[in-house]
Amino acid sequence: MDIPWWRDAVVYEIYVRSFADASGDGVGDLAGVREHLPYLAELGVDAIWLTPFYPSPMADGGYDVADYRGVDPLFGTLDDFESLVTDAHRLGLKVLVDVVPNHSSSEHPWFQAALRGEHRDRYIFRAEPNNWQSTFSGPAWTKLPDGQYYLHLFAPGQPDFNWRNPEIHREFLDILRFWLDRGVDGFRIDVAMGLYKAKGLPDIQDQSFKSVSPIWGQPEVHEVYRSWRKLLDGYPGERMAVGEVWTDSSEDLALYVRPDELQQSFNFAWLQAPWSSTAFKKVIDDTLAAVPFATWVLSNHDVVRHRTRYDTADPGTGLMRAKAALLTMLALPGSAYLYQGEELGLPEVKDLPPEARQDPVFIQSKGELVGRDGCRVPLPWSADGASYGFSPDGVAPWLPQPATFAALSAATQAGDPGSTLTFYRRALACRRELVGSLPYTLEWLDSPEGALFFTRGSLICALNCGTEPVRLPSHGGVLLPSGPLDGDLLPPDTAVWLRTSS
Ligand code: NOJ
Repeated sequence: MDIPWWRDAVVYEIYVRSFADASGDGVGDLAGVREHLPYLAELGVDAIWLTPFYPSPMADGGYDVADYRGVDPLFGTLDDFESLVTDAHRLGLKVLVDVVPNHSSSEHPWFQAALRGEHRDRYIFRAEPNNWQSTFSGPAWTKLPDGQYYLHLFAPGQPDFNWRNPEIHREFLDILRFWLDRGVDGFRIDVAMGLYKAKGLPDIQDQSFKSVSPIWGQPEVHEVYRSWRKLLDGYPGERMAVGEVWTDSSEDLALYVRPDELQQSFNFAWLQAPWSSTAFKKVIDDTLAAVPFATWVLSNHDVVRHRTRYDTADPGTGLMRAKAALLTMLALPGSAYLYQGEELGLPEVKDLPPEARQDPVFIQSKGELVGRDGCRVPLPWSADGASYGFSPDGVAPWLPQPATFAALSAATQAGDPGSTLTFYRRALACRRELVGSLPYTLEWLDSPEGALFFTRGSLICALNCGTEPVRLPSHGGVLLPSGPLDGDLLPPDTAVWLRTSS
């Protein structure tokens, strides 16, 4: 069987608002992405995933879509998008776009019509709310002046569609076709375990997340992905979809990637695991046992950046662990998703002033929840300038950047052999060279407590999550370490790729 391009692909997530601003309004845009495509090709990724750039009132950074077939003027034009796809393909990069089927914006013409009392069956209206809470805090229902309530699992500006109405199915198939016809290689499906709600909308006993509940993981959702899969398979060029599927078990995750459903789903178990060899080993074993094609991810625009998650009292630890985790992740069978800025070792920005914060999580919870702005701070491209090269000079970016971003900028790191960026480039180049010859399987090797050793064909990966150095497994040469080795000892918070001895 030919191996599909996405099986081993490294996909780079671009949070468009925060990547690069070419237009000079302080917000990242498609032209900014296009300008930096050579940087991404040089980094060595195989594909990019663009977060929503569709017309939107931006109640949730664009995850509130008012028109599924356009480009918001803030981000550019459809022509900009088409040029971006052409350039990306010329550079050998595939392009994934986000599709947001669980909810639209309240400004979407269909919801505007529903507000006027027309076709309310496209959304979820009730005379009385149930006890569901919004993921962003507070009730999941908003009352209209006429006394009816509508459901929004996220912000009030994101009304949930009623997928029990066949019109929604037809509409989304048409939206997918629209972007497939414009050459996209695939989709990232927002809130993929949502869409259907249990009939009758019963109250829930427990507000904590469950991957199968009246709110999430209803069995009918799988029919949607079966029809999407048929559509994707009808196009040339291995078009694919990856689901944003939060589950509490790998068995539930596996339901979304059955052979006639999505090709991939995000596997958040690794991202949620603590820094522990036992936890990592369990995630790896569970994942590989459950899904045919694994994916791995350490950070995205919704979670605290992993460099900061891995921090301890010693401020150097987070970055060392982040690099070690990356090397381990890139050695696993399957595809890896990177989040913009991790290649620069960016930390979470924790001290954004409250008045600068824009995440609806912060706003809706009245500041009780800090929200996700800290991982969305615009990227530093150069060491100087008002926005470290994010916007044309003199323009303030939509979120303020800390002064520490100067030393972390792409330009500063590009020529430095010891930088995080250089390390990422090396790791991705080395992976690209090896990946075709590695079996899609993994074997564990005996390892001392706190460490994790495994082999795939000619590659050995060793990771030390413990507090003491450990002796390397027997090997035939060092390919790439994530930090300095001590002779044949692997220091704590370090990983290394080795050649097998035979
Ligand atoms: C998941 C997206 O990644 C997140 O940013 C967004 O707020 C929610 N879905 C709602 O669309």
